[in-house]
Amino acid sequence: MRVPHSSKPRVLSGIQPTNVLHIGNYLGAIKQWVDMQKEYECFFCIVDLHAITVQQKSKSLHENIRRLAAFYIACGIDPAVSTIFVQSRVSGHAELAWILNTLVKVSELERMTQYKDKSNQHRTNINAGLLDYPVLMAADILLYDTDVVPVGEDQSQHVELTCTLARRLNTQFGNVLKVPKLKLCVETARIAALDDPLKKMSKSASSAMNYIALDDASKTIQQKFQKAVTDSGRTIVFDPKRPGLYNLLTIYKAFTDESEQAIEEHFRGNGYAALKQEVARVVIQALEPIQDRYHALLDRRSELEQILDAGTKHAHAIARVTLERVFRALGLG
Ligand code: TYM
Repeated sequence: MRVPHSSKPRVLSGIQPTNVLHIGNYLGAIKQWVDMQKEYECFFCIVDLHAITVQQKSKSLHENIRRLAAFYIACGIDPAVSTIFVQSRVSGHAELAWILNTLVKVSELERMTQYKDKSNQHRTNINAGLLDYPVLMAADILLYDTDVVPVGEDQSQHVELTCTLARRLNTQFGNVLKVPKLKLCVETARIAALDDPLKKMSKSASSAMNYIALDDASKTIQQKFQKAVTDSGRTIVFDPKRPGLYNLLTIYKAFTDESEQAIEEHFRGNGYAALKQEVARVVIQALEPIQDRYHALLDRRSELEQILDAGTKHAHAIARVTLERVFRALGLG
């Protein structure tokens, strides 16, 4: 099969179409994806097979896939430049995951922090898919001969395992898979929860006060920031030892692109109430155009479907080439 070739290095990343998308997902992942589109050939996956490791309602899953695609585009992913596709529609992901399953040790998977967290959260549904989750993620990445994987900090352990598995397969079968590199956006790799700054902002949090969803109304955003947990200090400075304050300042910095010094200067003499109001203002200002584009896209369903169809076709063609190489190296078929 002939696949159009780009000389640019490749990026692959993905998000699960579950619950809401929040500003942690945006600042930790999507914002850097948008910036990488010029220099890299990018593949942005909607990882619905990962999503079903936790029980999903089929109707909402189907809708969430479309919504996530609309958010990718509304945030600045250009489908004319980057490939947006749905994981389950490219069968190579499940096929390569099976092959990698024969190389990974169960003990390696049991050590994964996310597995431990999720199996604590879903005690009545600790399915094999939950344990195997990082192997499917490794398949997502390795299928595309990916050079760089931009993710938030919580995914770095999975990307490290991906590199280990690629090296292991290469050691046994020759130079078959490209070993990718992790890329963290250091400053925003771990946006903290607003209601508990020692935890990360999370889609699956039990309270909506944990996060700012990308489609939260302005009023909700103001209220959530107003209630954000801080300390009893008075000065507004970037101090990692004051995690609530530090998180608000990090969010402010990420949305304004101002320097820490300029921000501290800006807030000198102000209290937390003023800071919270200002953070809410810049976040609302940044999210408004994204929300407008998002809603407009959801009104143009057939366009969204076309984008996903084209993306899937392109991804499938590239994935097949890698998979054939792996099959040959292993003597399969
Ligand atoms: P998911 O859907 O949980 O999260 C999507 C992306 O958002 C980042 N993120 C955060 N970044 C900063 N602060 C936070 N509080 C925060 N919360 C989430 C995540 O690190 C991630 O980059 N397993 C992945 C999806 C996946 C994937 C892949 C990613 C499947 N296959 C292949 C890269 C490559 C996940 O659950 O992401």
